[in-house]
Amino acid sequence: DQRGRIVADLLAHYDRHRRVLPWRAGPGETPDPYRVWLSEIMLQQTTVATVGPYFRAFIERWPTVGALAAADQDEVMNAWQGLGYYSRARNLLKCAKAVAGEHGGRFPETEAGLLALPGIGPYTAAAIAAIAFDRPASPVDGNIERVTARLFAVEDEMPGVKQELRRLAATLTPDRRPGDFAQALMDLGATICTPRSPACSRCPIRAHCAAAERGIAAELPRRAPK
Ligand code: ADE
Repeated sequence: DQRGRIVADLLAHYDRHRRVLPWRAGPGETPDPYRVWLSEIMLQQTTVATVGPYFRAFIERWPTVGALAAADQDEVMNAWQGLGYYSRARNLLKCAKAVAGEHGGRFPETEAGLLALPGIGPYTAAAIAAIAFDRPASPVDGNIERVTARLFAVEDEMPGVKQELRRLAATLTPDRRPGDFAQALMDLGATICTPRSPACSRCPIRAHCAAAERGIAAELPRRAPK
């Protein structure tokens, strides 16, 4: 079916063009949930380019969630300096202590279990469940909202249409390789299906894109005029 072809085409492209990122497992490697969690928290309000050096420094200093759980709050706040949104750093330590103290040092594998931890909201729970544990979860951030609005040519305005975009995005989530699929959508939104001038000519799912078909990809998602 249509959705099966979208999934297959996007995964095939991901296998050839996946971005190498410091937190991303290589092809055939098993992801480390600690690294996935740490990166997703850092990426919540900060760009991939800025996060890179911070992520490396944290992993060098605190290689496991147990090591981080034993850190002092001052040390963590210092290492976070420059990333901003400092409540993230406080929750980071709280979450590490909860995982180390209440979960035997292992992250919960379900969205519901992850959601119960400090600093982990619905998007982050879905991202970790998919990427770290290959669960069929559907993390939808701004990039994936945009990809979804274009793919299905959803012309209703943001932010009211967010719930509909989440629903549509979830209908794409495959049973096989949901983690790679989520990362493939993130890469597509970051590199090809960009906000201003989407590179539709290079898009691996161009043939399935209703907005590209109508020539309105760059206009979506629509926003109410100010
Ligand atoms: N943005 C948020 N999470 C990401 C991830 N895991 N990889 C790339 N970009 C992201």
